[in-house]
Amino acid sequence: MSARVEDAVKIYGIAATQVRALDHVSVEFPAGRFTAVMGPSGSGKSTLMHCAAGLDTLTAGSAWIGGRDLSTLNDRQLTLLRRASVGFVFQAFNLVPTLTVLENITLPLDLAGRGGREREADREWIDSLVDVVGLGDRLRHRPSELSGGQQQRVAVARALVARPEVVFADEPTGNLDSRSGAEVLGLLRTASQELGRSVVMVTHDPVAAGHADEVLFLADGRLVDTMSAPTAALVLERMKAFDRPPVGSAAR
Ligand SMILES: Nc1ncnc2c1ncn2[C@@H]1O[C@H](COP(=O)(O)OP(=O)(O)OP(=O)(O)O)[C@@H](O)[C@H]1O
Ligand SMILES: [Mg+2]
Repeated sequence: MSARVEDAVKIYGIAATQVRALDHVSVEFPAGRFTAVMGPSGSGKSTLMHCAAGLDTLTAGSAWIGGRDLSTLNDRQLTLLRRASVGFVFQAFNLVPTLTVLENITLPLDLAGRGGREREADREWIDSLVDVVGLGDRLRHRPSELSGGQQQRVAVARALVARPEVVFADEPTGNLDSRSGAEVLGLLRTASQELGRSVVMVTHDPVAAGHADEVLFLADGRLVDTMSAPTAALVLERMKAFDRPPVGSAAR
C-alpha cells in the first residue's frame, strides 16, 4: 500500500496572516520504500506528513492512501483507515499521559479491538519492539516519568505495533543518542525492506537520511529536489545549498 499527494496545497490562516505551507507538491511514498523528508524549519515537512496521513486536510489537491482519495472519506471512514493502515510518530510524541508505557505502546491494538487470542499472537512482536527501543525496564512508568528520548522511543513503538501499511515518523530520532537513533532507524528500515511497508521520515540529520532509499527536499512549501541512494555526505552537501536563499524566492 502506498501513500501519495497530488498537487497538494495547504494554506493556514486567512488574508494578511495567511501562510502557504504546501505549494503544489506532488509526491508518492510507495510500499517497500523508506523515504526521508528534509528541509529547513517551516518548509512544510510536518504539514505534508499530516495531510498525507489524513490527520489534516488539504486546501487544494488530493491525498491518497492505498488508492483511496482521503477527501472522499467521512470522519469515521478516515478514522478507520488510519487505525487499520497508518502509524504516526508525532514530532511532539503525543503520548497519553495517564497510560503507562506499555499501555501507550499497545493502544493502537486496543483501539482496533485486538485483545484475547489476537493479543497472544501480537505478544512476540510487542516484545521485540520493546526490546529494540530499549524500554523493557520502563513499561509501567508514565510518560511524564521518562526522558524526551525515551518518550520518543515509546512513540516509535506505538506507531509500529499494529504493523501499519504506511508509517509516518516526524523526526523520530531527533532526541536520541546515536546508538538509540541507529536502532530506531534500523527498525524503520526493517519495516520497509522486510515487511514491505511504506515508511516516511522527517529528519534534520544527514546521517539518518542516509539510511533512507530516497530523500525529498522541501523549501518554502515546495518540493525542490530528490535524491536516490543517499549517503550522509551527499545529503550534507545538498543541505548546504539551503543556507543560501533559493533562486527566485520572493517575500510573500
Ligand atoms: N496550525 C497552523 N496555523 C498556522 N500556520 C501553521 C500551522 N502549522 C504550521 N504552520 C506554518 O506552516 C509552515 C510549515 O510548517 P510545518 O510545521 O509544516 O514546518 P516543518 O517543515 O515541519 O518545520 P520544523 O522543521 O520546524 O518542524 C510554517 O510557516 C508554519 O508556521
Ligand atoms: Mg515539523
